[in-house]
Amino acid sequence: MLSYQPALSVAVLKEPVRIDVKVGSRVSPIWIGDGVSERAGALLDAQRVGRRRFVVSNPVIWRFHGEAIARALGEAATPGPARRRTDPILIPDGERYKTLLSVSRIYEALIRVGADRGSAIVAVGGGVIGDTAGFAAATFLRGIALAHIPTTLLAQVDSAIGGKVGVNHPLGKNLIGAFYQPVAVLIDPILLRTLPRREFRSGLYEMVKYGMIASRDLFDRVARDTKAIFDRDPAVLLPAIIESCRIKADVVSADERESGLRRILNFGHTVGHALEAATKYRRFRHGEAIAYGMLAAADLAVARGALADRERQALARLITQLGPLPPVVDLTIGEVLEVIRRDKKVIDGKLHFVIAIQIGATMTIDDVTEEELTAVLERLGLKR
Ligand code: NAD
Ligand code: GLY
Repeated sequence: MLSYQPALSVAVLKEPVRIDVKVGSRVSPIWIGDGVSERAGALLDAQRVGRRRFVVSNPVIWRFHGEAIARALGEAATPGPARRRTDPILIPDGERYKTLLSVSRIYEALIRVGADRGSAIVAVGGGVIGDTAGFAAATFLRGIALAHIPTTLLAQVDSAIGGKVGVNHPLGKNLIGAFYQPVAVLIDPILLRTLPRREFRSGLYEMVKYGMIASRDLFDRVARDTKAIFDRDPAVLLPAIIESCRIKADVVSADERESGLRRILNFGHTVGHALEAATKYRRFRHGEAIAYGMLAAADLAVARGALADRERQALARLITQLGPLPPVVDLTIGEVLEVIRRDKKVIDGKLHFVIAIQIGATMTIDDVTEEELTAVLERLGLKR
């Protein structure tokens, strides 16, 4: 079990909070604070991020936030000439563009403007942009610096942290990728004000996941302050983001390559990923699928006597309280089991499955049977 500092009071948050991901001798700092993106140029200068910085984003995000972010990136930390601005590299919006073709387009744009090993990519967007641009950064000229300015809640609490970058292959999601730690992550909750409610909720499920794996306090706060969080009230949202990031940073610092502790971040992901794949990534936002996956993992734990049923009920209540999930009743257990058999978490023929043992603590098991999974999926509402 991990232990965490209590939530920060709002008074402490006038300056950005810094949390470090420490992998070996390298430190990957995360700055979190309202307005942090307006100081992007200065913060990246202080971190010596790239002599030339190339933004990768998409047209939707750029329409909302491009002007402010381009201005912030153009401003130098010390008085002197502003940096020369270059056009952002925009890839189309959507999961279906998280491909090697988009990565190739990023390479092409970088080559055309003469990017070199001293250049950096600044990924401005949600998980799709962060993962795709991150993979381009990891591989262009064998690796150039990468900074993230995440613009979805999911990216702010999860995908921009921890160094997993990659793209989808026609035969499966996230099959091509790398571990590549960013040189900086700038998390500005103000950017979330333009995020549609469903996308925001998708990120909230990841926050619930952190509560389930490591912090009953965070879980309780999301349950108690749901409305204020949806209203993006900084007094509530900011500390919740900070705590989520702290949990992820601690876990990744202990186990970057997912050989042990990091597996707890996959709580809810076995069934979640399978639901996404079975519906061809069109029905669920990532967090929604994870919400179902967490319910399944809690149910399995109760069936094994590892989790008290009242804890499972608290999770189910919170997920219901956050809002509606897309239906699963038309899906068959067989098609979902088929995907689970091909899961990345199958190692040497054994499926590593994370279950909750109480709100705030999990364990990994590797002896889940198809009968157990069948029963769980049936109780989730899937048909035989
Ligand atoms: P996304 O990147 O598709 O963004 C969701 C939508 O919100 C998009 O339409 C986007 O254009 C829009 N958007 C983004 N920021 C906005 C803003 N501020 N205002 C208005 N609209 C905005 O989805 P996501 O949920 O952020 O990321 C999902 C992806 O993340 C998946 O591909 C998943 O595999 C990946 N992921 C990666 C990791 C990791 O560790 N690398 C972890 C979890 C998920
Ligand atoms: N989202 C799971 C991980 O980063 O390991």
